[in-house]
Amino acid sequence: MTATPLRPSAPARTTVATGWYSPADCSLDDFRAVVEAGLAETSLDDYPYADALEQGVLVYGARLREHTTTPEGRRDVQAELARALADGPGIVVVKKAFDTGVVDRATDVFRAMIEEQEAAGAVVGDHFAKPGANDRIWGALDKFAVRDPGAFAAYYANDVLALVSEAWLGRGYQVTSQVNVVNPGGQAQTAHRDYHLGFMDQDQAAGFPAQVHVLSPVLTLQGAVAHVDMPVETGPTLYLPHSHKYPAGYIAFHQPEFTAHFLEHSVQLPLAKGDAAFFNPALFHGAGSNASTDVRRMANLLQVSSGFGRAMEVVDRSAMVAALFETLRGLKAAGADERSLRNVVAASAEGYAFPTNLDRDQPIGGLAPQTQAELVWQALSQGWERAALVEALDAAGERRSSAV
Ligand SMILES: [Fe+2]
Repeated sequence: MTATPLRPSAPARTTVATGWYSPADCSLDDFRAVVEAGLAETSLDDYPYADALEQGVLVYGARLREHTTTPEGRRDVQAELARALADGPGIVVVKKAFDTGVVDRATDVFRAMIEEQEAAGAVVGDHFAKPGANDRIWGALDKFAVRDPGAFAAYYANDVLALVSEAWLGRGYQVTSQVNVVNPGGQAQTAHRDYHLGFMDQDQAAGFPAQVHVLSPVLTLQGAVAHVDMPVETGPTLYLPHSHKYPAGYIAFHQPEFTAHFLEHSVQLPLAKGDAAFFNPALFHGAGSNASTDVRRMANLLQVSSGFGRAMEVVDRSAMVAALFETLRGLKAAGADERSLRNVVAASAEGYAFPTNLDRDQPIGGLAPQTQAELVWQALSQGWERAALVEALDAAGERRSSAV
């Protein structure tokens, strides 16, 4: 039997990058060129609804409010905001986005939660700081709603949040929130990108093809609401405008030369209480050092997700893997090859660590907690009994559920 010769495949007809990125693809010169070209090209004249361009960041406020009173005006403003986040600097600041009285009311609720956490002796870990250096409220959205529905409704009635979320993600977006307090003396975060690919180490991110690197930033929107006045010495977030446009950035931000470049060229805008910043999750950024002696810098970090990050059908994956485990053990004992076993695990177990409860399910030795698929693989390769796996699955399910 003769093999059929392979036909050359048709040339790709796509405008989206494909293929794979590796650390060797990252070039600081290319990165610098992308950022500098962006800064040179950006003009306030191209953003008629913005009030100012400060340090390369578009600042909105009065003009935005003036033009969002009609459905047509709202659409136009949203189109401009999306353009600013995609083709422009990648970050917008909205002055006076939240009423300060409403912010203060939420701040009181958050402070009470932090005091309770401390009183309970909980040491809340953080991706970037030593436990205890900062105050964190993970999963602050549902905790806030359950604790003080009135304050929650006043806060999330906010239309700037809805305006920008819908501009970037469309309808059906989902809000989550984490409160971050950087205390005096708190250290700066390392430059990074955000969820999804920004929550992976270099090897994990390199496991996703280039078109997914294009997709990741349109699946979420990052926001930060200032809960106190944040002059520069308190360390408001550092940003590098236009850095979201560098294609291999999810790999590059792990490299020291990119981190050093960020520290030299990033900008830092002071915020007043109630101001909000929204940015493309692919933008290089990091919280600044708090050099003040007395300001506990509180921000509500909003992560808004696209409604599209879901499967069509519900699947009870814990039940599936518990049912499959004896079969997998039998296949392994009979000498099945690793790839076929891994394929069965990939088709049955949950392969993603999120969403989770970051109070209880904190990452160990990385940015993401263990996935169910990793747990099943661990059980299989270490020869666990089925009962031990079921127990671990139950414990993992418990860790992932919300605690409110
Ligand atoms: Fe971040």
